[in-house]
Amino acid sequence: MAEWTREERYQRIEDADENTLEQLKQQVEASPYRQTFHIQPETGLLNDPNGLIYFDGSYYVSHQWFPLGAVHGLKYWFNYKSEDLVHFEPQGPILEPDTKYDSHGVYSGSAFEYQGHLYYMYTGNHRDQHWHRFSTQMIARMKDDGTIEKFPKPVIQAQPAGYTSHFKDPKVFKKNGQLCAILGAQTDTEFGRLLLYSSKDIVNWHFEGEIKTQLTEFGYMWECPDYFEIDRHDVILFCPQGIQAENERYRNIYQSGYMIGHLDIENMIFDHQSFQELDDGFDFYAPQTFTDKNGKRILIGWMGLPEMNYPTDSEGWAHCLTIPRELTIEKDKLKQRPLKNLELLRTNKETALGYANKFNRKLHPYEGKQYEMIIDILDNDATEVYFELRSSKTESTLVTYNQRNNKITLDRSDSGLLPSNCTDTTRSTTLDTPLKQLQIFVDTSSIEIFCNDGERVLTSRIFPSKDATGIKVSTESGQVYLKFTKYDLKV
Ligand code: FRU
Repeated sequence: MAEWTREERYQRIEDADENTLEQLKQQVEASPYRQTFHIQPETGLLNDPNGLIYFDGSYYVSHQWFPLGAVHGLKYWFNYKSEDLVHFEPQGPILEPDTKYDSHGVYSGSAFEYQGHLYYMYTGNHRDQHWHRFSTQMIARMKDDGTIEKFPKPVIQAQPAGYTSHFKDPKVFKKNGQLCAILGAQTDTEFGRLLLYSSKDIVNWHFEGEIKTQLTEFGYMWECPDYFEIDRHDVILFCPQGIQAENERYRNIYQSGYMIGHLDIENMIFDHQSFQELDDGFDFYAPQTFTDKNGKRILIGWMGLPEMNYPTDSEGWAHCLTIPRELTIEKDKLKQRPLKNLELLRTNKETALGYANKFNRKLHPYEGKQYEMIIDILDNDATEVYFELRSSKTESTLVTYNQRNNKITLDRSDSGLLPSNCTDTTRSTTLDTPLKQLQIFVDTSSIEIFCNDGERVLTSRIFPSKDATGIKVSTESGQVYLKFTKYDLKV
């Protein structure tokens, strides 16, 4: 693909000529990989979910957006409104890079309610003529007519001493009645850290210090932190960069995970269990959480990663958000289940019950490109069970369960097109308990696999041909007794 110049990357959408934009739109619309029940960019590149909130009877979901092509250029926030988190009304760009402080990008941030109004806190990314980066933290308020008014000046002017300008992604939350913001940061010695600020009036923010964790040398930068409480457990999420792969862990370019523990905010100490990845697939990064109208903790992630080249780049668009997941903590473990409201999209229920063995079995009448499938494993004496999705004569996305080592493997070798700089084709995870259930969401160019009712998730983009619609099951040896329930999903 042609290299983008700096000028092209930092072009504003208003300055692009209408014909170019129209052509880009048509090119994107013609893509065979457009999703149906996932949030995706109209054109250009989508990255982190931003500003997630339930406010005044509606949900707001924004995302990082560079409109003019599939590269990380000048970032806007593109916003959606929703009543149920499965049907979304596009609202257009909500935060634009139109001040000195965010002239080189309205970077990631969060939403919060204060005195009955909706506010956003985000990172203003500015570069000077020598291309030095200046990161400030900005606040904007949604007015009653839905338009946004930025505070005239950043509320945090610069990073504290001892940290670089990789100082970003404020997530606002309340703890013990106190408004706080957790930020991702990098020390001058290039280690990732979490910084905490507090405020009484949302204008003045006081630096409380670094949140001390057991991870003092765990990557060179921590992005997109989040903090929340579930059933008196404190949870911190963040995205470390610079972690080496270790067997089946940390296999993607950057990681995204959580730690469960106790946050002692007076002493700024987080006493925690080990860091766990949130997702074991190929494409997951920069998630953000919020509470839904019933007070449940919901997570949405970016189904993509920085610095990866995806097959749709040449079509002028890239990436989508994940489906929303509900988080709970059960017996000290984080569980992630698909949002219950996704059931609103179900149509055409089909079920089957039966044995599968080493003879490849095509499941009739099952096939599809946009569906949810629940596979209950009722009895299993097979060594390995193979589930093939989006399969044709030449393609298939393979999910293998190995009973001996309790491993689930997702294999994209024959899935169709792949990100050009992703060098390996499998991701595996060892389950805590024998596999009892898979709940799989397939959209035109993605697969999200929930194992054992929320125990583990594997999320990946796949780019199969449009005739690759088959669903098959077989075993290496022995047999497995299964119940299938499949729904087409329609928005
Ligand atoms: C994570 C990230 C954030 C930043 C944003 C810029 O993907 O790098 O740290 O705010 O993307 O688009």
